[in-house]
Amino acid sequence: MTIIMDGKKLAEKVTGNIKSEIKKYNIRPKLAVIMAGDNPSSKIYVQNKQKKALELGIDSVVLTFPQDVYEDNLLENIYILNEDVNINAILVQLPLPEHINTKRILEAIEPIKDVDGFTSYNFGLLALGYNPYCIPCTPKGILRLFDEYNIELEGKNVLVAGRSNIVGKPMMMLLQNRNATVTLAHSKTKNLKDISINSDIIISAVGKENLITEDMVKQNSIIIDVGINRDINGLKGDVDFKNVINKASYITPVPGGVGPMTIAMLMENTFELYKIQKNYQLL
Ligand code: GUN
Repeated sequence: MTIIMDGKKLAEKVTGNIKSEIKKYNIRPKLAVIMAGDNPSSKIYVQNKQKKALELGIDSVVLTFPQDVYEDNLLENIYILNEDVNINAILVQLPLPEHINTKRILEAIEPIKDVDGFTSYNFGLLALGYNPYCIPCTPKGILRLFDEYNIELEGKNVLVAGRSNIVGKPMMMLLQNRNATVTLAHSKTKNLKDISINSDIIISAVGKENLITEDMVKQNSIIIDVGINRDINGLKGDVDFKNVINKASYITPVPGGVGPMTIAMLMENTFELYKIQKNYQLL
């Protein structure tokens, strides 16, 4: 019997706890989002983040900039947010417009307000196996799903497909820190099937519909689908769900799997940064 991992339910549990803590202590953590350009997916993500924050009692402010924004304008706004004691968390929605140097923008965020964990300070700590202020939201949410379903990672062969800084790379580091054996595949990888067929766990974060098909997975493997592929028929993942489900022991659906966990972890990271900045006075 295949277990469909319910990310929506777990996300509701996590955010429900955050909501009651915020209420109990009568506090207002605050998240600032920087959004530049008019990427349609980014607009949806940012709206969803704002809606969830409001629901939990987290204040949020979204600073929007046009596609042709000057890099220095974004930087100046980050400096202001860094200095503002009422702002606990800063998120720069990616991707930024092409003419913007993403590294320069992300590196300007104070590490203690870096809610995505994308600064080299926090990312470096994660790579070294130490605790950063924040762990990137999507891989953190996937780990939380593994823990919820009591899936042991130690000694497992895990294929991570996609080497982005947002998902694949931090996922690899987190899994290695948990003693998994990780293969990080990417667009130049040859014979993905040779790797996938021998993997206990497959995490696909590529953004290509039907990348992972039934013939590529071994019996009883665990399948995590991070893909977000929108077309006229709606939202699809990277995994051919209806066929792969026959072989998987655990599988995440799209939607309702990893997506809600990403937002829940963003809320959790915002709350954690608040607590760190207030020196845990609450607890
Ligand atoms: N774009 C797609 N996913 C993410 C994310 O987790 N954080 C940010 N900042 N931008 C994204």
